[in-house]
Amino acid sequence: MSFQTHPTYLDFETANQGYASRLETCLDAICADTKTHARFLNTLSMMEHMGSRRIMLTQSNAETSQDTLKHMAEEARHAFFFKRQAEKFSGFEMDYGADNTIAPSFARMYFKRLESYIAQDLADADNPLLVTYLYMSMIIEFRAVWAFVVYQKCLDRADIRLSLKSLLAEEQGHLDDMERTLAKTSIGTSERINKFLAKEQDLFVKLLTALESAVDADALAAE
Ligand SMILES: [Fe+2]
Ligand SMILES: [Fe+2]
Repeated sequence: MSFQTHPTYLDFETANQGYASRLETCLDAICADTKTHARFLNTLSMMEHMGSRRIMLTQSNAETSQDTLKHMAEEARHAFFFKRQAEKFSGFEMDYGADNTIAPSFARMYFKRLESYIAQDLADADNPLLVTYLYMSMIIEFRAVWAFVVYQKCLDRADIRLSLKSLLAEEQGHLDDMERTLAKTSIGTSERINKFLAKEQDLFVKLLTALESAVDADALAAE
């Protein structure tokens, strides 16, 4: 099966249409409360940091390419960007502990379970660390671009001056890089990618559900 049969970002958007309004409602509630919003930003920082750390741990070898180094550096910068915004909103230094994040165990679970699922499926491939990284990145970038578009809408509606424009452009760039690099390999079948996408959606919905209940609990506590 050729690479052309791979699902595209538009396919991803269509498959996730049902979740966009749920995420939007949740992010509206998050944006409405400065303290909760700071914790959310700090959680995003934690996830970006986890991403850059995984790239560094799994892709440091003689073949490390310019694309990979760029990706690593940009994800590290996204972690810094979100941390800086988080602390601007909270007014104090925030660690990644449970008090300063939202649903952190689900955020970690999302990442770890997806990676081990993909790694297991690709265990017999040539250069499994590299192809796991490429697929993992492509699928996460689909989600990142999708979620940041919704988040920007909520920020604008809440009149919060925070632009995700350059960040979004970088995530889009990573997505293009991954697709281009994967196209050079013969390993991708749409069946395989669809399986990964289904797993990712399952983990994302768990994370979204955890976010929703954490935000509800926050709102109740504030009453
Ligand atoms: Fe990022
Ligand atoms: Fe990225």
